[in-house]
Amino acid sequence: MTEQSGQSPALDNLSTESRVFPPDPAFTGAANVREGAYAEAEADREAFWAEQARRLTWDAEWSQVLDWSGAPFAKWFVGGKLNVAVNCVDRHVEAGNGDRVAIHWVGEPGDTRDITYAQLKVEVSKTANALASLGLVAGDRVAIQMPMVPEAIFSMLACARLGLVHSVVFGGFSAAALRSRIDDAEARVLITTDGQYRRGAPAPMKDGTDEATAHTPSIEKVVVVRRTGSDVQWTEGRDVWWHDLVDGQPEEHTPESFDAEHPLFILYTSGTTGKPKGIQHTSGGYLTQAAYTHHAVFDLKPETDVYWCTADIGWITGHTYIVYGPLANGATQVVYEGTPNTPHEGRHWEIIQQHRVSIYYTAPTLIRTFMKWGADIPEKYDLSSLRVLGSVGEPINPEAWVWYREHIGRGTAPIVDTWWQTETGAIMISPLPGVTKTKPGSAQRALPGISAKVVDDNGVEVAHGGGGYLVLDKPWPSMLRGIWGDPERFRDTYWSRYAEQGFYFAGDGAKYDADGDIWLLGRVDDVMNVSGHRISTTEVESALVSHPTVAEAAVVGAADETTGQGIVAFVILRGTAKADDSTVKVLRDHVAAEIGPIAKPRQVLVVNELPKTRSGKIMRRLLRDVAENREVGDTTTLADSTVMDLISSGLKDSA
Ligand code: PRX
Repeated sequence: MTEQSGQSPALDNLSTESRVFPPDPAFTGAANVREGAYAEAEADREAFWAEQARRLTWDAEWSQVLDWSGAPFAKWFVGGKLNVAVNCVDRHVEAGNGDRVAIHWVGEPGDTRDITYAQLKVEVSKTANALASLGLVAGDRVAIQMPMVPEAIFSMLACARLGLVHSVVFGGFSAAALRSRIDDAEARVLITTDGQYRRGAPAPMKDGTDEATAHTPSIEKVVVVRRTGSDVQWTEGRDVWWHDLVDGQPEEHTPESFDAEHPLFILYTSGTTGKPKGIQHTSGGYLTQAAYTHHAVFDLKPETDVYWCTADIGWITGHTYIVYGPLANGATQVVYEGTPNTPHEGRHWEIIQQHRVSIYYTAPTLIRTFMKWGADIPEKYDLSSLRVLGSVGEPINPEAWVWYREHIGRGTAPIVDTWWQTETGAIMISPLPGVTKTKPGSAQRALPGISAKVVDDNGVEVAHGGGGYLVLDKPWPSMLRGIWGDPERFRDTYWSRYAEQGFYFAGDGAKYDADGDIWLLGRVDDVMNVSGHRISTTEVESALVSHPTVAEAAVVGAADETTGQGIVAFVILRGTAKADDSTVKVLRDHVAAEIGPIAKPRQVLVVNELPKTRSGKIMRRLLRDVAENREVGDTTTLADSTVMDLISSGLKDSA
């Protein structure tokens, strides 16, 4: 097994995959995008994006499509003005589609709520009036930590309407993680809920946010949605119930126009250091690419389709493909609050059957879980409404791809394997349904108007059949505009590796096949991908060494059949600490408390030594070999070549 395929076992069979699925001519005839779009966009990229920007309603026309003179800090649609929330809500009502359902919301315990565009306009306007009444003004930051309830979407859109910058923090993140994100962005308000439903039972939410906000000097108000009705601690003067604040607000709100480059949101993501990066996105370019890609990649027909993206709004997929893209396009969508196996393993298929979902967008880790649960479960439901299937978050292994097509897509629905990142803001590489001959496991080709290349160490594009690093060699409308408060880190992280060529370095390994299609091979840096969630090895290492019993820690992402990668930690304990099961449990729980349950190591292995180079760098490659039960690779660069024997024999003894 090679180093790269070792990062994700799911990719073992990539090199031998040769199946091709041509589009159905009937689909092609009615598809939103034609093959010619690639050449058209290539001929004049800026004209292409200007045409896409006209999907939106602008209050003032731009004077320049792209200003790249301050590269790598881009400006798109310079001088243009718009209101993002008006584009996602009001204009659909004005166009006569107020009665169209925007959101079929499905709560985990079975409660439901259908929200039309006209109702959404009322809810967003009331929420905007409420936030304005707290004294928030354009440019202020608002933190949001909420489960998948409608108020989370109202909050994001109300922020957009007022020009407030939202920073959504995934509900599964710990109090410590929330606190550091609030502090970094100096958020003035936090919006949260009393509790959340998890696997059929109410779980706390405000307890965690209280722990965070006990130490966040910037927070003035905490707005709390009543979701589970559970008891909560209350800080008078700071905490306010959503229903007390929002319910009595006027249903009308006059929106203001904002500059195309007005910041829309910050979303934190893991990098190669312990400190998460606040990725900054702005308004006009972001919404243009969100709307275009949602239209093109999912072939959305807003009058007839029912769309469902299973992501959480705490991640970029939820921002772009639940909130901004679909709503900008006037789509009808399902938003589901809970877990896929509550109350039973057919929950998703039941929802698809009930709402006649036609476009379904999910993650490979979930597809592999469905495979494990068995094909007989989806077979019990009528999935005939499905016509496009999407995948995102990590490389999809060909077997999962084919299973998805056969058992969920009835062997006919095209699959779009979409590659993109928090930083790219929207989809960059993906097949187009009805256009592309799809290949299981490959994201294939940069979208019209987007340019991606696979290059070697020197930035030279590799030949067909060759492998290297994925770069984006041309600016794109929804590109990140920076890292909050840290322009240097922005340059260093993404633009220094290929500074001479001016390429954006994505951090992913990739290869071209003989046809020049792109296959993604996983991260090439110290970022792990666990169930499609980005977690840095350093972040988990810092959490481990913050525990008093740990002297040193090294963390690797090891191949995992279901989650893509699993977190395996090697720790050296201090002095008298015992290497037993209870220590291991304490350490796993400690990481969950420090970062969140998604970062809990699958395994913690206590060792006496760690393999290091002469310059003191931990050789994770060798630890990954151990974690994946492989023969340990080349150890010649180790400072002490006996270390690996010690680790291996120590682990055998303790097994
Ligand atoms: O490694 C790539 C992987 O997920 C990373 C981006 O993670 P995040 O910013 O959390 O955004 C995830 C959702 C857009 C990428 O650097 N990744 C995402 N989609 C794919 C993928 N790897 C392979 N194929 C994909 N379709």
